[in-house]
Amino acid sequence: MPSHDPIDYSADPQARERELELSRRELVRMGIGAGLGLALTPWAQLGAQGDLAHRDMDEEQPSALITRTIPSSGEKLPAVGIGTARRYDVATAEEKVPLLETLREFPKRGGKLIDTAPSYGNAEAVTGELVAQLGIRDQLFLATKVSVRGTDATSGVAQMQASFRALHTDHLDLMQVWNLQGTETLLPVLREMKAQKKIRYVGVTTSNERQYPELEALLKKEQLDFIQVDYAADNRQAADRILPQAKDRGAAVLINLPFGRSRVFQNVLTTPVPDWAKEFEATTWAQIFLKYIVANAAVTCVIPGTAQLKYVTDNMSAARGVLPDAAMLKKIEALVGKAM
Ligand SMILES: NC(=O)c1ccc[n+]([C@@H]2O[C@H](COP(=O)([O-])OP(=O)(O)OC[C@H]3O[C@@H](n4cnc5c(N)ncnc54)[C@H](OP(=O)(O)O)[C@@H]3O)[C@@H](O)[C@H]2O)c1
Repeated sequence: MPSHDPIDYSADPQARERELELSRRELVRMGIGAGLGLALTPWAQLGAQGDLAHRDMDEEQPSALITRTIPSSGEKLPAVGIGTARRYDVATAEEKVPLLETLREFPKRGGKLIDTAPSYGNAEAVTGELVAQLGIRDQLFLATKVSVRGTDATSGVAQMQASFRALHTDHLDLMQVWNLQGTETLLPVLREMKAQKKIRYVGVTTSNERQYPELEALLKKEQLDFIQVDYAADNRQAADRILPQAKDRGAAVLINLPFGRSRVFQNVLTTPVPDWAKEFEATTWAQIFLKYIVANAAVTCVIPGTAQLKYVTDNMSAARGVLPDAAMLKKIEALVGKAM
């Protein structure tokens, strides 16, 4: 069975209790716990499952945002972001309207990380245009990618200059070597750019298990701020092979293809959302599949392709509340069948 890695309190069984106590105190300090008898509310339980971030106390989103810490800096990121492949590759003003609505809502829901790439057609430029139009650059963590064949660093630098222009920014939060193409050539360039504060973090991506051996070797050899890898409830190989190693090596982890480009929904087309999902505050299949991923403590942020207002609302709800425990994770796996 693939291994999951929910937060492990076995080494210090009192740690969970201490965190819950802190949560209770925090609620009281905010005037919320008083009068509730301080029963373990979902908010308090969250203290045991994710870093406690800012609390959004409006009625619609009562649970605290789940954040994860980037190991190389200590900076915190909300556990759900947005991916822009395919659906942001649009041209007309009409096609941009739902994307604008999505991006406007995203930071309001606590979202921060947007992942794009020059290889996604117009997606990078459309993302940059809409972010500039909304004036939300400073609220976001922008991640993009670069790749080269062979030793041609110059073309990589030209690509990155184009990305700065496309994204209307003079600094990027994360630059990733796309599909491990040109890591040897590009990693020294990216580190130099990091030293010059043009980018804040250096990473690499893959979405193909055939590249896992190369990624494993790279993780061993290089100190990376981030890796990005494919992982989904029905595509679980990364949980065994990549995520534990990334955690050990202090690399933050972005998860791509969390829905397998919608494949994972095919398993449950005629299945109603199970009642037991209430135990971890999931009310839709998307939330179940995203919380499945976020429950792995090695995961920093999952980046579902999100291009509609209804999806950003849905997906960002997976960054709040309680996460599934080991028994619930098994139930989710049983619904989607064998690991691919
Ligand atoms: N090698 C790499 O670096 C690499 C490779 C692949 C992906 N990525 C990154 O990972 C991101 C995610 O991958 P992806 O976008 O290809 O696939 P995905 O996130 O697995 O699936 C996206 C699809 O799920 C649907 N969806 C989104 N939210 C939903 C919800 N709440 N309920 C029901 N359906 C929902 C969308 O459908 P609609 O079509 O109806 O909107 C969308 O087409 C990419 O956008 C990209 O940023 C990186």
